[in-house]
Amino acid sequence: MGISLAWFLVFCKRLSQAPSAAEGARFARVANRSRTVLRERVGKGTGFGLRSARSDGDGSGSGAGLMTMQNRGRFITLEGGEGAGKSVQARRLEARLAALGLAVVRTREPGGSPGAEALREAILTGFASDFSSAGQALLFAAARVDHLDRTVLPALERGAWVVSDRFADSTRAYQGAAGNLPPGFIADLERLTVGPNRPDLTLILDLPADVGLKRAAERRRTGPADRFERQGLPFHETLRRAFLDIAVAEPGRCVVIDALSSEDEVAAAVWAAVEARLDPAGAVKARA
Ligand code: TYD
Repeated sequence: MGISLAWFLVFCKRLSQAPSAAEGARFARVANRSRTVLRERVGKGTGFGLRSARSDGDGSGSGAGLMTMQNRGRFITLEGGEGAGKSVQARRLEARLAALGLAVVRTREPGGSPGAEALREAILTGFASDFSSAGQALLFAAARVDHLDRTVLPALERGAWVVSDRFADSTRAYQGAAGNLPPGFIADLERLTVGPNRPDLTLILDLPADVGLKRAAERRRTGPADRFERQGLPFHETLRRAFLDIAVAEPGRCVVIDALSSEDEVAAAVWAAVEARLDPAGAVKARA
C-alpha cells in the first residue's frame, strides 16, 4: 500500500527529532511528498494508499508514464442479491470481451487479491463471520483497498478491462440497507476506500428475492448456506430494493438487467449494455 497517514505522522515526528541538517532535509523532502500525496488523496476524496487510476503512483505529478484515458481499461462490476447468476454472467462477459481482443481480468469481492481472499474466509466463514454490520463493513472495505491496489488499478493502468463479481454497492446493500448502518457511515467509508475509482459500468442483476434464494439453494445443493443466505426473506427483499435504489440514484453508472430470463437472454442483455455504454469494439479499434 502507498504512503499512509500513519507513515506521514511518523515522518513528521522524526523530522522534529532529526539530529543533523542533512537528515532533517531528507525527512523534510519525504514529509513534503507525503503531505502532497495526502492532500491529493484526501482533498479529492480518494482513499489512503490507493493509486489513482490516472496517477503515476508516486504523487510527484510529473505525468511520466501516464496512461491516457483512451488506453486505460474499463472497470465493470456485477451486483445483485443471492442467486442472481452474477458469476456465470461475469465469465460469459469475460469471454466475450476477450474474443474482441481485449485483455480482461475477471475478479470478485470479497477477494480478488491474496490478502483480500484471506479476509474473505475470515468474513464469510471464519472468526469475523459474527461481527456486527459495522465490523463487517470495515473488513469488506479493507479487503477492497487491497483488491483495488493490487489487482484492479494495476490492470486498468495496463489497459485491461476488469470484470468484478461484486464491489462497493454490495457493502451499500448488505451492510448499509440490510445491515442497518447509517448511509453516512457507508458513504464515508466508500469515499475513503474507493474514492474516484468507481466502476465505469455497474450491471445490477435483478430478480425477486424468493426466486434468488431458491436458485442459490439449488446451486449449493447439500452444502451449508452462508450467513447472508440464512437471513429471512425480508432481508433479501431489502437487498433487492437497495440495489434498485442505487440504480435510480446513479443512472449514468448503473444498468438494471432482468435476471429472471434464461442465461442466454441475460447474457445478451449484459452485452447490449456493455456495448451501448462502453463501446468495447471501438476501444479495440482505437488501439490498433
Ligand atoms: P459469495 O459466495 O461470493 O456469494 P455470491 O455468489 O452471492 O456473490 O459470497 C459473498 C457474500 O458476501 C454475499 O452474500 C454478499 C456478501 N458481501 C457483503 O455482504 N458485503 C460486501 O461488500 C461484499 C463484497 C459481499
